[in-house]
Amino acid sequence: MALPVALVLAACYFLSSVSGILIQTDTPSLPLADRYDYVVVGAGIGGLVVANRLSENPSVSVLVIEAGDLDDQAEDVTVPGNVGEEDPHRYEWVVTTGAQEFLDNTPRSFTQGKVVGGSTITNGLCWTRGSTADYDAWVNLGNPGWGWADLLPYFVKSETYTAQHDASLEPTAGASQRTDPVVSKHGYQGPIEVGFPRYIYNQTYNFLDGIQELGIPINDDLNSGYATGANLIPSSITAENQSRADARTSYLDPVLSRPNLALVTGHTVTRILHRGDNGTAPNPGPKVGVPGRIITGVEFAANSTSQRYNVSCRREVILAAGAILSPVLLQISGFGPADLLTSLGVEVAVDLPGVGSNLQDHPMLQPVYAFDAPDVFTAWDIVGRTRDAVREEYLANRIGPWTAPMVNTVAFPALEWVQDDAPQFLTRISNATSHLPPTYDATLLAGYTAQQTELTALLSRTDTPAYELMSTSWGQLAVSAMHTFSRGTVQARSVSVFDKDNPPLVDPRFCSHHFDCDVLLAALELNDRLIATAPMAALQPVPQAGFAPADARNRTALDEAMRALIRTEFHLSGSCSMLPRDLGGVVDPALRVYGTRGLRVVDASVLPLVPGAHIQAPVYAVAEKAADIIRLDNGDVAGVHPLPKEVRPTPPHCAHHAHRAHRAHRYW
Ligand SMILES: Cc1cc2nc3c(=O)[nH]c(=O)nc-3n(C[C@H](O)[C@H](O)[C@H](O)COP(=O)(O)OP(=O)(O)OC[C@H]3O[C@@H](n4cnc5c(N)ncnc54)[C@H](O)[C@@H]3O)c2cc1C
Ligand SMILES: *[C@@H]1O[C@H](CO)[C@@H](O)[C@H](O)[C@H]1NC(C)=O
Ligand SMILES: *[C@@H]1O[C@H](CO)[C@@H](O)[C@H](O)[C@H]1NC(C)=O
Ligand SMILES: *[C@@H]1O[C@H](CO)[C@@H](O)[C@H](O)[C@H]1NC(C)=O
Ligand SMILES: *[C@@H]1O[C@H](CO)[C@@H](O)[C@H](O)[C@H]1NC(C)=O
Ligand SMILES: *[C@@H]1O[C@H](CO)[C@@H](O)[C@H](O)[C@H]1NC(C)=O
Ligand SMILES: *[C@@H]1O[C@H](CO)[C@@H](O)[C@H](O)[C@H]1NC(C)=O
Ligand SMILES: *[C@@H]1O[C@H](CO)[C@@H](O)[C@H](O)[C@H]1NC(C)=O
Repeated sequence: MALPVALVLAACYFLSSVSGILIQTDTPSLPLADRYDYVVVGAGIGGLVVANRLSENPSVSVLVIEAGDLDDQAEDVTVPGNVGEEDPHRYEWVVTTGAQEFLDNTPRSFTQGKVVGGSTITNGLCWTRGSTADYDAWVNLGNPGWGWADLLPYFVKSETYTAQHDASLEPTAGASQRTDPVVSKHGYQGPIEVGFPRYIYNQTYNFLDGIQELGIPINDDLNSGYATGANLIPSSITAENQSRADARTSYLDPVLSRPNLALVTGHTVTRILHRGDNGTAPNPGPKVGVPGRIITGVEFAANSTSQRYNVSCRREVILAAGAILSPVLLQISGFGPADLLTSLGVEVAVDLPGVGSNLQDHPMLQPVYAFDAPDVFTAWDIVGRTRDAVREEYLANRIGPWTAPMVNTVAFPALEWVQDDAPQFLTRISNATSHLPPTYDATLLAGYTAQQTELTALLSRTDTPAYELMSTSWGQLAVSAMHTFSRGTVQARSVSVFDKDNPPLVDPRFCSHHFDCDVLLAALELNDRLIATAPMAALQPVPQAGFAPADARNRTALDEAMRALIRTEFHLSGSCSMLPRDLGGVVDPALRVYGTRGLRVVDASVLPLVPGAHIQAPVYAVAEKAADIIRLDNGDVAGVHPLPKEVRPTPPHCAHHAHRAHRAHRYW
């Protein structure tokens, strides 16, 4: 069926010449085709990367349906210095967890993006990949084709990387240049811009000098696959404009003019539609996969009272609603643990125990050791007239403190760098499974046991971190556990995604395995030693109540203070894991939902084991690879572009090379 011609509805100030379709909430009727080759659910990283790549072939039609609206690209969204300052919940789903019984028995709240661009519109901009071993562990868990070497071309394909020394740092911004990328491991032609801010707070260098005194070395490029050490990390910002680079600006805006790509905003997918013969009938056409329920399309609506629409897919539905809402949508559509579905009154289409289990995150706490030394300039000083000046400087020249994100100075310590007897410490893991959710069946237990083996091996390495330590300009030394043994769950409690009285039950079960909190306690003890180093002591850090070195001598008290502060690092993943079905998996290595034909999941929920990293870069890479898999499976070979073979060489740079000489080749 032909697509309607150029139709731009509602106020669409930024798209004056589009020929694709953009449909917003207040559109009176939906000028859609009733059938598209691909229907994509959710316009976050997974959805927009896949929509961009699939619609490269002009003969393939793609519809994206997003619950949120377009962001207004106001300063609270785009300016790195404003991270965390957005109007509360303007573009967000708010999730309240169950009481965290292993912390302080109270619930936690966290947000997920509800906007075109998903969580990349509200995230903290940190850009990290994790270690080679993080991805090789995915292969060991039964996912051929997903190791570091397989994903590196997609990390490269997704990014346009601008090195720190190319980013025109202000002369006052610290004495030394401390990052030095491994040129061949980065991309220079990809959609998402990755760069460094032009302004660096002086305290960054106190931190980096102090951490080295504790034996944690500088790593010239934390994104090379050798993922331990300390340094600046890049951000998802454009080097030129020093503003947020997100999934919308990078993967959607440049291609929304394609006539074969349509976007509906302000509409929520309420159900995935499928045909009830369980796939025993002959394969009806292009839908690839083993026999299974035939996916026919999706149902969607603006809200609970508005009209519902059905739209069909000729080829596939791509589910990309994120780590919380993808499993919920599968469950209410008939794919999930049979007893949960039955209790909801949902007919079981495919009994998949893993849907909503294996939920992982990086538990984080952010104690502050406020700097008491005179003349320490921090982000909190950007108020009143200073704020006006900082803003003006930013708007005029794209320089100054507004270019600096909240967090870009970090350490990723290996366990043995912070624990005197790491092998002994590792024996605390044991192979117990009694801490797992009571809903785990034999397949999930088997999958978890396999993960334990991988995690223990990862924690024994020196290129893979046990935790992350994040330093801010105002003395926050946040810590988060990177390789965690706790597992949580996501369970729908209503068949309607609009049922506000019965939201899904989300329980990350932070520190349900004690080892995760053991690591965080060790991390806090390192903080005590860090603030005592000469470079940090010069800032006169004053620990917040409960986190003073004196408190640390009473581990019970410190442990209590720690548990009260632990919350999400927003790295929710694993809830629709790519794993063999007998290990509790939900999708196979081609990201196809088991027991279905024509349904894949492409978002953070498929990560079987969360890498030791902020996960946006990994999700972009996974989605790029997914797009190639989908195209090849659908015979769309012509559309698969060869990967960029050329990388732009970094121009020779004398100071830069001299600097490299004395620390070269330690990490790669
Ligand atoms: C506050 C915050 C800070 C973060 N900071 C960082 C950071 O500094 N660095 C980093 O690497 N990562 C960070 N992350 C994590 C990172 O942004 C996410 O992991 C990533 O965006 C996940 O991509 P995704 O495709 O899985 O889902 P998302 O990007 O969240 O997109 C999912 C989209 O699906 C839509 N959707 C959901 N259900 C439906 C439905 N039924 N119908 C239609 N649409 C639907 C949602 O509205 C959303 O737009 C942060 C996340 C948050 C929330
Ligand atoms: C940062 O340090 C440099 C060098 O000591 C100094 O010139 C500059 O004024 C400092 N910046 C701030 C904001 O304190
Ligand atoms: C920078 O901003 C200008 C003007 O808003 C815009 O045209 C350009 O595309 C931006 N470039 C990048 C790399 O963000
Ligand atoms: C529901 O959506 C319709 C548009 O489809 C809109 O007119 C109506 O105001 C919305 N109702 C609520 C309660 O938001
Ligand atoms: C959408 O399709 C489903 C399954 O075929 C059907 O039950 C439902 O009534 C349809 N909804 C609309 C609005 O056509
Ligand atoms: C499809 O399979 C499920 C179990 O996976 C079963 O409960 C259901 O009855 C089957 N439906 C049909 C129509 O065969
Ligand atoms: C857990 O099991 C693995 C093998 O399955 C073994 O190598 C390891 O030593 C065990 N760990 C403990 C603490 O018993
Ligand atoms: C340590 O802290 C705990 C919890 O606050 C407290 O009950 C205990 O008395 C303290 N022990 C000492 C030796 O101060």
